[in-house]
Amino acid sequence: MATSRTVKVRVNGVDHEATVEARKTLVDFLREDLGLTGTNVGCEHGVCGACTILMNGETVRSCIMLAVQADGAELMTVEGLAQPGGELHPIQESFRDKHGLQCGFCTPGFLMTTYELLSKHPHADEEEIKEWLSGNLCRCTGYQDILESVKLAATRLRNP
Ligand code: FES
Ligand code: FES
Repeated sequence: MATSRTVKVRVNGVDHEATVEARKTLVDFLREDLGLTGTNVGCEHGVCGACTILMNGETVRSCIMLAVQADGAELMTVEGLAQPGGELHPIQESFRDKHGLQCGFCTPGFLMTTYELLSKHPHADEEEIKEWLSGNLCRCTGYQDILESVKLAATRLRNP
């Protein structure tokens, strides 16, 4: 049985085609094969949310998916948030301005979760934000600053 497969994905607007081992996780594929190391690997069990990316507009845990499962999909990683010139996305600016990160390890996952939340629910209230963020773990910030970051991002995105 073949152990390698060809995978075609569009990541942050760029098409990629690669041959990968069938057992390779999506996060390892992104980091090792595509060089997109912004997505972090924490628990590797689908628990911490550090590896969260968007697949066809929905957040997924890239540590518990195989690269071959993403064949044909449109992916967005944290590298896709900033403008090509380096200008930060309002969500990134808000996390910076409200001190929503310390070590930054969990941050890519929080940013991508926030991106989906505010894309679908631009008027999300505090309870909704808390519910959406509840699947992401942070060991540094105590969550209050993250909550404030998301609230600021929501305001900025509604009033660009
Ligand atoms: S590394 Fe994927 S959920 Fe923790
Ligand atoms: S900022 Fe360090 S784990 Fe969240």
